[in-house]
Amino acid sequence: MEKGRERYYRIIPLAGGVLGSTTCGALLYAWSVFIRPLNAEFGWNRADIALAFAIACLFFGLMTFPAGKLSDKIGPRSVVMMGAFILGAGFISSGFINYKWQLYLSYGVVAGFGGGLIYLPPIATAPKWWPDRRALATGFSVVGLGLGSFVMAPVATYIIDNFSWRSVFIYGGIVMSAMAFISSLCLKNPPAGWMPAGWKPKENGGNNQPAYRDYTHEETMRMPQFWLLWAAYFCGAFAGLMVIGHIAGHGTDSGLSSMEAAGAASWLAITNAISRILIGGIADRFGTKLSFFIIFSLQTAAMLLLFPSGKLYWALWAVSALIGWNYGSMFTLFPAICLNYFGAREQGSNYGLLFTAWGIAGFSGPFVGGYLKDTSGTYLAPFIVAAVMVGIAVFIFMIIKEPEKMEA
Ligand code: 2OP
Repeated sequence: MEKGRERYYRIIPLAGGVLGSTTCGALLYAWSVFIRPLNAEFGWNRADIALAFAIACLFFGLMTFPAGKLSDKIGPRSVVMMGAFILGAGFISSGFINYKWQLYLSYGVVAGFGGGLIYLPPIATAPKWWPDRRALATGFSVVGLGLGSFVMAPVATYIIDNFSWRSVFIYGGIVMSAMAFISSLCLKNPPAGWMPAGWKPKENGGNNQPAYRDYTHEETMRMPQFWLLWAAYFCGAFAGLMVIGHIAGHGTDSGLSSMEAAGAASWLAITNAISRILIGGIADRFGTKLSFFIIFSLQTAAMLLLFPSGKLYWALWAVSALIGWNYGSMFTLFPAICLNYFGAREQGSNYGLLFTAWGIAGFSGPFVGGYLKDTSGTYLAPFIVAAVMVGIAVFIFMIIKEPEKMEA
């Protein structure tokens, strides 16, 4: 294929990733806008409403494993298409609920399930088209998690204020389903052994064939490196999700105005989105493991600074921006390191299993954060636990070693 055309062609799976991940961002990260109207209509408290989000995280995270396996087997398109219909069904039916259990089922189980099917396949597919820029391609597949909440939160608030929360679920579900459907059309795997014209892998044997082969999923699951990565992912996600929802509350408790405190959450959202692209370029240049070591070290420092920074709005904004940067970077770096360590062949299954760490962290982290705050009466306790968790991740990246390459 001639170079200009090839570049154009390779952009299509990236566009699929941006669209699919934006849909997932709208699903997950704008959830807080529903708290007020659901409380007003049904009198449900924050914990009741938060449980719907926790269930969605759990199903989203656990479904990525079968989604990845299926994507390796039948290709990404059908999996994302299935996800588009399931997510649409779950989100739209959330517009008709009257009981908590209905919300848990429609938003938590069904929409969360659909989201997992949409999220994983682009992450496994885009880097196959960009073996020369794998981390950057991964960044495009997850950037929408940041973008989706930016778009969804103000649009949903406008619709809630002028129409109703039910309309957000119904019309939002239709639009999100259509976006995910278009994303599915952008995705397909390249032919086996495909490489960009004029590009050669670094470690290559004769005839431009790699002198090693990728690990199978079964082999990957038996490697300690895989489970160390799983533990690091769990620690990073648990810590992030435990504090993110509490930053604004910490600001107001420390004496900031609600606008100043909300500014911290906005800065976190901005850096959470841009880090996903920028860290990809950085990791492609300086190495994924080193990038991980630095972001988790910075995250430990940020968690420790979070409590004392609450009194000065600019300090809280700066610390929140740093937390968002480090948190968002994980979603580009983990798929990238999974590819580097175990190879591209079964990346869908491997990364799908690795990502279950996020699902379990998403189910438990915000809950533990709320519990620690309620029982200790201060935000210091969850922030210290978060610092310890990311400190464990730093330790893991000090000791982990890249697996030996398998002989072809
Ligand atoms: C992400 O932000 C879904 O939380 C995951 O990419």
